[in-house]
Amino acid sequence: MNTHTSERLSYPYEKPSLEHMQAHVNAAKQQQEQQACILHEAWAKTPAKLQDNAKAQAIAHLQNLLTQHNAVMVAHYYVAPELQDLALATGGMVGDSLEMARFGQNHSAQTLLVAGVKFMGETSKILSPEKTVLMPDLEATCSLDLGCPVDEFTAFCDQYPDRTVVVYANTSAEVKARADWVVTSSIALEIVTFLHSQGKKIIWGPDRHLGSYIQKQTGADMILWQGSCIVHHEFKGLELSLLKEKHPEALVLVHPESPAEVVAQADVIGSTSKLLQAAVNHSAKSFIVATDQGILHEMQKQAPHKQFFAAPTAGDGATCKSCAFCPWMAMNGLQNCISTLEDQSHAVQVSHTTLHAARRSIQRMLDFSAAYREFGVAKDGADLNAHISQFQQWLEQNHEHAQKLV
Ligand code: 13P
Ligand code: SF4
Repeated sequence: MNTHTSERLSYPYEKPSLEHMQAHVNAAKQQQEQQACILHEAWAKTPAKLQDNAKAQAIAHLQNLLTQHNAVMVAHYYVAPELQDLALATGGMVGDSLEMARFGQNHSAQTLLVAGVKFMGETSKILSPEKTVLMPDLEATCSLDLGCPVDEFTAFCDQYPDRTVVVYANTSAEVKARADWVVTSSIALEIVTFLHSQGKKIIWGPDRHLGSYIQKQTGADMILWQGSCIVHHEFKGLELSLLKEKHPEALVLVHPESPAEVVAQADVIGSTSKLLQAAVNHSAKSFIVATDQGILHEMQKQAPHKQFFAAPTAGDGATCKSCAFCPWMAMNGLQNCISTLEDQSHAVQVSHTTLHAARRSIQRMLDFSAAYREFGVAKDGADLNAHISQFQQWLEQNHEHAQKLV
């Protein structure tokens, strides 16, 4: 028996002291309580629903403004259906956070109108500093970003100077500037497997659910920041199992920001785009979906004859009847898109020093993703460790890619 391996699995890193971890968990709880007020503020700023006539006029006006200002819309799957549709109809895009970053960087428009949350606007600005990046509401943020203040995260990282710092894209520009790598949910598993195969030990922040899922999958030595997404954290394992009993034929699609007991019941785990692809391409006729309900719009559009059930957020243990809608994503509406473009207001700003440091870690992810796609992405169900080790060998022959990843 390989005792070294089993030891590593039980104690995947030099354990921080219990007091240290307890303090960290307490701080996370306190942050969650503070976030409750911030949530009320976010819901209060959600734009009012427009009547059909007013909506049609607003859409036409917004279309003209986009052309007039040489602007393109970059939207996330969680924003209002009319914004997703408008982005697609006007040559923009709707996608997951990695696709949004790539699209904004590669598009020729001088202005990007980012319908999503703050970290998405900041990532676009960091990758395209010469462009004007506008957001309908600059206060649309994310509980993961809020729960990971740069000073505390820096102090946390400084305790483990020998570790590679990997942060989720759902963080501030300043936290990205402190990191070695940025990842999104669509590439996190591959990047951590890659780093682990090089013997790197990792500090992961901020989402603890995504972090522990990746830790379990890769066996990597990871110390986790204790953040969570207020939307995905609410999905309930027990209630999901009851729903599965009612619909045994349904395929379960889960975003990995969800708690472990929910992820454990998934047939497909992945980014919003991966879940959408599964809904469209899989032969199943019905699906249970554990992610923000905004994605059901595109799922239903692309797979009109299939049936979708929202995974349960309420149950005995529920603390928040969020109904699986992100309050910050909901702050994006037609009216504030219009006023932002008309006034050229709400431009995303990132300081020069932060921008350059954060760009390094985001660009590394994009370069990894480009190289990995050129090599060939692993097929579903393939042994990821074996595949990444072949990728490493491929990199040895492809220096122009390899040198971007050091
Ligand atoms: P994706 O990268 O999967 O789109 O996720 C972003 C996000 O904020 C999920 O809550
Ligand atoms: Fe952040 Fe969760 Fe909203 Fe995504 S759904 S932006 S992770 S709070």
